[in-house]
Amino acid sequence: MTDLNTLESDVLAQVAGATDLQALDAVRVAAVGKTGSISGLLKTLGAMSPEERKTQGAAINALRDKVANAIAEKKAGLEAAELDARLASETLDLSLPAPYRRKGSVHPTMQTMDEMIAIFAEMGFAVAEGPDIEDDFHNFTALNFPPKHPAREMHDTFFFNTKENGERMLLRTHTSPVQVRTMVSQKPPIRIIAPGRTYRVDNDATHTPVFHQVEGLVIDKGIHMGHLKWTLETFLARFFETDAVTTQFRPHHFPFTEPSAEMDVQCDRSGGEIKIGQGTSWLEILGCGMVHPNVLRACGIDPDEYQGFAFGMGVDRLGMLKYGMPDLRDMWSSDVRWLAHYGFSAFAAPNPASGLS
Ligand code: PHE
Repeated sequence: MTDLNTLESDVLAQVAGATDLQALDAVRVAAVGKTGSISGLLKTLGAMSPEERKTQGAAINALRDKVANAIAEKKAGLEAAELDARLASETLDLSLPAPYRRKGSVHPTMQTMDEMIAIFAEMGFAVAEGPDIEDDFHNFTALNFPPKHPAREMHDTFFFNTKENGERMLLRTHTSPVQVRTMVSQKPPIRIIAPGRTYRVDNDATHTPVFHQVEGLVIDKGIHMGHLKWTLETFLARFFETDAVTTQFRPHHFPFTEPSAEMDVQCDRSGGEIKIGQGTSWLEILGCGMVHPNVLRACGIDPDEYQGFAFGMGVDRLGMLKYGMPDLRDMWSSDVRWLAHYGFSAFAAPNPASGLS
């Protein structure tokens, strides 16, 4: 009996001392498992006299029940403690402010492009598109570039490696190849704009290697420079939403237009911001002209029957002027403070009815 008492107090002390479920289970196996101490005692009953077995058997069974109960009770306690600990560690304080997350915004270049598209759409222009990776024919040859024109040189144009057939693809240096693609695939009258990304080997405050243009093309009978000038002036007045814009129209040369001109906008770039309608700087914003007869011919259009004008506007530069950004390179710096300052709400899609910006 002393043995049983000692065993009982030992096992119950172990049960009480178990600090987690794993330790408790080890105690259980050692006491009432198949080869446990109490199970071992039960096996000795067979060798006892019937008298002895009666008393010992009852005592051992009582001990086993007591231990089993103690284990069950301890287990419930440990499980409750474990759940409490988990609930405490996984607490979520719903009254805490949510972590700050910067809202995304529309990049000023895309906003500017959407504004330009909205204005031209209202003026009756359709949107045309072409690939960024162009061939020499669409980017140069069909646009009347002579074979040795300097723009074909490596310092202006990003060329790909020459293919086995000798052809050398390039990143389009302007959106003018879309003029060619449109004239080849559509019959006049044509009135399109072609917004898109363009590439040149160039990098300073007013040039980035990737930039954006909106090309314009109108082909019809009796089109002349007056139509071109009116279209540009009407566009600019709407785009800047003010008459206080000073522009200058300069004679220029492009192989694909004759005559050709460039347009600059007067601006002040002395402070940290660019301001239009004042100052001593001029920022070139577009090239334009009457479509060269050779280009019309290359696209299967008879220059004696049809004439047209074309223009190519620098989207990023127009955005710079309108929204006061002095350095074009910031547009690509991905500085979230810059984007938060100059970005636009994604819900404020520009349209002529509700306003542009
Ligand atoms: N493609 C010219 C440029 O990128 C701009 C232009 C377009 C000029 C159409 C005339 C007509 O500089």
